[in-house]
Amino acid sequence: MTRIFSGVKPTGHLTLGNYLGAVRRWVEVDQHRADGLFSVVDLHALTVEHDPARVRRLSRQAATLLLAAGLDPALCTVFVQSHVDEHTRLSYLLECTATDGELRRMIQYKEKSVRALASGESVRFSLLSYPVLMAADILAYRTDEVPVGEDQTQHVELTRDLAVRFNQRYGHTFSVPKATQPPVAARVMDLQDPASKMGKSHDATAGIVYLLDDADVVRKKIMRAVTDSGQEVAYDPETKPGVANLLEILAGCTAQEPAALAEAYTSYGELKRATAEAVIEVLRPVRERHAVLAADPGEVDAVLKDGAERARGMARPVVDAAYRAAGLLPAG
Ligand code: TYM
Repeated sequence: MTRIFSGVKPTGHLTLGNYLGAVRRWVEVDQHRADGLFSVVDLHALTVEHDPARVRRLSRQAATLLLAAGLDPALCTVFVQSHVDEHTRLSYLLECTATDGELRRMIQYKEKSVRALASGESVRFSLLSYPVLMAADILAYRTDEVPVGEDQTQHVELTRDLAVRFNQRYGHTFSVPKATQPPVAARVMDLQDPASKMGKSHDATAGIVYLLDDADVVRKKIMRAVTDSGQEVAYDPETKPGVANLLEILAGCTAQEPAALAEAYTSYGELKRATAEAVIEVLRPVRERHAVLAADPGEVDAVLKDGAERARGMARPVVDAAYRAAGLLPAG
């Protein structure tokens, strides 16, 4: 059976980008057709300045939202990364496989380190090594497919390179995974700045729809979205990025084609209204189930405990095999 791994990092509240680019597909497609592992990758949230209490809160909220969105522990494994030691155990071996040069070429590292330095913060070493831990997340489970939004494809490419290099050096140990992307909305843009990705850790929040925003807030944010000059509704990400983003969001929510949708609207206002209502309808059941689950944290904890046990059972033999292959003496 195909093995799938993916994750979200608790650096902020989950956004519509996370949902349309990743989570929705895990729920609707991936968990039904494959052996899926879906993780709140909390260790990754420590690569930038963080408040421990906030990370703890966001981790629980992210896990609750994954279940509220419809991940079913009877079909897949939902767990928190730091509950499974195998990820960091394997990460070290992969640090010994990766090169300094290839990590410095990662776009996200370049962008985030420039931003940190500009605001007078130091750059944590883990920000550089982060894609190696991500590779360990994936390779520890002999994963075949990694369903992610477009921004993560470079990290999955690196993961493939590391798997191939390790296998060539030490004998076949890892599967070589490939990234998969949704047909639309693989890169949802900020509503106020359609040149930037809608990101959960951005400071300015007017252009970001969070999964837990209520209907009025969603409506307001989408009605105020930046559009483009002219009045014609057309799907052209180059010359009309704001309108194209709305069309992508609407297409993602209604399983249609952005270009075909463009023909159905004659004004930006009409398109915004339709997009807002479609987003509200998609998020409504998620918010409702989240409220029920959040009232019973014991149930979420039980799912995470069981998920971590299952994940450990899968990762342990793979990481042990990697340790032996690399020449480390078995513990006996
Ligand atoms: P993260 O937490 O930034 O995002 C979680 C998932 O949501 C997707 N995504 C988007 N898709 C479309 N439009 C957007 N604006 C948007 N923003 C985010 C991301 O592509 C991702 O699929 N490094 C990863 C977490 C991670 C991981 C892994 C993923 C750690 N280990 C192993 C897969 C496999 C990250 O920061 O995702």
